[in-house]
Amino acid sequence: PTWSFKDRVVAVALAAVKRFGFTVFSCASTGNLANAVAAHAAKAGLRAVVFIPKGLERAKVVTTSVYRPTVVEVEGTYDDVNRLCLEIGDEHRWAIANVNLRPYYSEGAKTLAFEVAEQLGWRAPDRVVVPVGSGNMFVKIHKGFEEFERLGVIPRQTVRMTAAQAEGCGPIATAYKAKTDKVLPVRPNTVAKSLAIGAPADGAYVLDLARRTGGGVESVTDDELVDAVRLLAQTEGLFTEPAGGVTIGVLRKLAAAGAIGPDEVTVAYITGIGLKALEAVEELVEAPIRIKPTLASFEERVLALAGG
Ligand SMILES: Cc1ncc(COP(=O)(O)O)c(C=O)c1O
Repeated sequence: PTWSFKDRVVAVALAAVKRFGFTVFSCASTGNLANAVAAHAAKAGLRAVVFIPKGLERAKVVTTSVYRPTVVEVEGTYDDVNRLCLEIGDEHRWAIANVNLRPYYSEGAKTLAFEVAEQLGWRAPDRVVVPVGSGNMFVKIHKGFEEFERLGVIPRQTVRMTAAQAEGCGPIATAYKAKTDKVLPVRPNTVAKSLAIGAPADGAYVLDLARRTGGGVESVTDDELVDAVRLLAQTEGLFTEPAGGVTIGVLRKLAAAGAIGPDEVTVAYITGIGLKALEAVEELVEAPIRIKPTLASFEERVLALAGG
């Protein structure tokens, strides 16, 4: 319902909210999670209080506020918001989706593996490319394939897990390239705001899986990821937000370098819609051609361009 994969994780968190009898549903969000918590709480008749960092895309705030939660904008980064929510969860009996309900919330991302296996005719892909913020989705996609293998639903196979980050917030990519196990926190500076998590909770697990499966971690600049948003729109008719641009930008970079082969069955996860982050592309797209409502004006201004 809220146009990102966060509906999946929130659906599972919501089941825990009901089971434990919480009355306030909350989260620390880079935007999409706030949308999903607010919408699902509205439907469930719960109070929602969502915490966001300052400077989010306008549409992400509007598309959250419409469900009438309490939206709290914290003067700081997402990492500040997350730290505050940890303290709130310790002191108050609130259900905070990605903090004290994280074990439930995180399992919801496994459906991203289950559905891919189903759509491929009950097999895992050779490789996945996944945009990484906290790293939860990446880790749980792997767990989803693993569980299906263990149950005998799909054949056993190593899925190469490729993590995609924005260069302006790429602490895991930096650690991967430096061949260290330490993911050092960074101060995010990227248009991929949904991935702007400087201290990723699951960073060490992402690094380990990317290395063990041979998938690797790669990053792209803001220019490259915005270009990739346009490439996906112009070739597949899909308009994604910058997180999806990070996926496609990394896919493009690795394919061009020969690191992803043309025969590999590769699934690129596009996890959010472009309409919520128009700022990323609005100044780059061509303005409409303005004409008078006459055939002459059409023939003068449009026909030649359209190749008629
Ligand atoms: C659209 C989108 N893609 C990817 C991510 C990253 O997910 P994770 O924090 O589980 O790594 C987010 C996180 O907010 C997101 O909103």
